[in-house]
Order: sequence, then C-alpha cells, then structure tokens
Amino acid sequence: MSLNNIVPFHIESVDSLGQGVSKITDKITFIPKTLPGEKGAARVLAEKSKIAFAQCEKLTTTSPHRVSSPCPHFATCPGCHYLHTDYQYELELKLKSMNSLFRNFPDAAPQVIASTQRLHYRNRIQLHYDVRKQKIGFRDAKNNRIVEVPECLIARAEIAQVLKSFYQNQHWLKLVPKNSMSGHVEIYYHQQQMKISWNQPYAEGGFSQVHEEMNAKLKAEIEKITQGKNYDLVLDLFAGDGNLSNKLAFKRRIAVDIYPKKLPGSDFVSHNLYAAETIKKLNAQLKNQQADLLILDPPRSGLKNLDEWLEMTKAHEVIYVSCDPHTQVRDISALKNYVVKELYLLDLFPSTFHFETMAVLERKK
Ligand SMILES: C[S@@+](CC[C@H](N)C(=O)[O-])C[C@H]1O[C@@H](n2cnc3c(N)ncnc32)[C@H](O)[C@@H]1O
Repeated sequence: MSLNNIVPFHIESVDSLGQGVSKITDKITFIPKTLPGEKGAARVLAEKSKIAFAQCEKLTTTSPHRVSSPCPHFATCPGCHYLHTDYQYELELKLKSMNSLFRNFPDAAPQVIASTQRLHYRNRIQLHYDVRKQKIGFRDAKNNRIVEVPECLIARAEIAQVLKSFYQNQHWLKLVPKNSMSGHVEIYYHQQQMKISWNQPYAEGGFSQVHEEMNAKLKAEIEKITQGKNYDLVLDLFAGDGNLSNKLAFKRRIAVDIYPKKLPGSDFVSHNLYAAETIKKLNAQLKNQQADLLILDPPRSGLKNLDEWLEMTKAHEVIYVSCDPHTQVRDISALKNYVVKELYLLDLFPSTFHFETMAVLERKK
C-alpha cells in the first residue's frame, strides 16, 4: 500500500470518529463516510506503519442503511459524519461506540435520548477565513483546508440565512476586520439575538449549549433523576450560567466556573478547576459539609482528579455530563467509592460523531 494507491475495502465496523474500518489489506484502513458491510475501492491519503487513511472512490456493495445525503457539502465537509445513514442507524452506531467504551459497567445499559431534529439545530458556528485565498468556511483539520459551506444544514435557520448572505458575491470580504488577512468568525443566535464576532476567543460571552431543544431534554432528564429531592447542598462544577442546576430544589448551591457569573440564590465561585489549589480552597469554603449532589460538566478534557473531588466533598450523588465519553469513562473508572447507577446517551450533536453522555453515580454505603 502506498500514497494515492487505490485499494479494496470491506468495512467491518465504524470507529468513534464515525469512520469505517477495513482490515482486508496489509494495513488497517480508516475510510470516512462508509458503513459496516460496505465493499469498494478507496484512495490512500495518508499512512503510518500499521494504519492508513483513505477516501472512498467506489462502492460495489452498499449498506441497507445508506441514504443519499440531503447536504450538498457532505462529500467534502469535515463537519458532519453520518448524513449517509438513516437516523436510527446513526443512533445505533453511537450506542455501539458508547457500549464499547463503558464495557466495564455492564449493569448500567445506556438510555438513549434521541434528537428532536437531525438538521437545523446548531445555534453557533465557527468559520475560518483566508483573505488571500478568498475562502471562508469550516477548517478540515486533516489537511488544514477551508471548506466552503454556504448551505450548511445543521445550522439553525437564523444562522443559515446569515451564512448564505456571507457567500453572496463574497460579501464576507466586506465584513472582515480591516488589515486582517486570516482568522475566524463566530456566528451565533442566543436568546433571540444574532451575533457575529470576528477573531474573539471562542464562545465569546460565555459557554452556552449549541442545541437548545436537546439541552431542554437534558435538563428534563436531570429533573427526573432528582425529582422529589430537596438538597441541602448542591455543588455544580463547570457550571457556566448554572444551566444544569438552576431548576433543582436546594437550600444552598455552590456553582464553580472559570468565567464569573451572578446566579440568583447561590454562591458563584470563579476558579480554575484544573488548578491544584482549587480543591483546597473549595474545601475551606465547604467547612466539611458533605455535598448531597455534585454535578459536573467539564470540557472535553474531563476531570482527571474527580476521585479527589469526591473524597473531599463526600457527595452522596453525582451527575456527570460529558461531551467526550473517552475522558468520562477514564474519570469514573478511577473512582473507589462510587457505583454507576445509570448511563445516558443524549444526542446533542446529530449528523456528527459527537454525542453527550451522562453518568449517575451513588456513593457506596
Ligand atoms: C461544557 S461547558 C458546561 C457549562 C454548563 N454546565 C452548561 O450546561 O451550560 C464547560 C464549562 O467549563 C468552563 N471551564 C472551562 N475551563 C475551565 C476551568 N479550567 N475551570 C473552571 N471552569 C472551566 C467553561 O467556562 C464552561 O462554562
């Protein structure tokens, strides 16, 4: 096998990045936008000693789950990974991936919360631009190229409208800040307001969930889990604006995030939760009071020292929401005194390989 060679493939499975995996040549080959059971030929784009990455050129056997993608950009766009399948099968593939990661927790079969809609849901998108190349679009991390997406189908209608206008007669070139030859722009729609922000740190104005309808479903699940409980103390780590705990019944809540927010009826503490001294500072503030419930919703990197946090707070219940199941399973596998009671797969990012997971844990008696 060598670069640009056309090689045969037979897809055995799909990996956690949504790529088909073929093992019929001398190297394990990863081919995006193919499905289990499919056969054909692919062009080798990159290779390492034991693996290769290829692009599907021809299909000779197609999966019964294959559908034609409604998106005109799907073949080249790095944003979506599953628009060549029906939605039920996309969910099955995601569940398979989650089951494989959480195989050491066989007693907590994940409950699947499907998305309300597969398209037109994102309330925030980020584009990269290059004035010299006259290009704006999503950046493909594999080759650093900018892929133009005037008709992105996962953006909400309000954003899709702005996006279209950006591309009309290259209108975006008139909007780029003066003397800026390359950078990024964020287009977002939040609380009925449209904002366009050039070259600011991502998620300017603070984090907010990108899929509002599924965020409502996530919160509804948390409300069900905590129904009938009136907590003395809730600790919400990576709290943002308190999205996940605002509706819970508590006497006291301590919400921690790196960006300060004022939350009614709670102590908001601004801390870097990855700094070693934070756990001691919080410990001093808690004055040995046990937390009834600890909610956490970290960025992709998870919380490696979750065990330390739990041994400090002695939280009776834990609700861990995650956008990266790999780091979540790493964190909960290291816990000494907790059992996993429930797992959830919440499809907050349909059409892509991403999904949200939630683990409900209880302290051992
Ligand atoms: C996935 S968001 C969750 C926010 C909130 N729970 C929600 O549902 O909207 C992760 C949050 O972690 C915060 N964060 C990122 N790095 C952090 C750090 N080092 N220390 C504390 N908070 C951090 C971000 O500001 C963001 O609000």
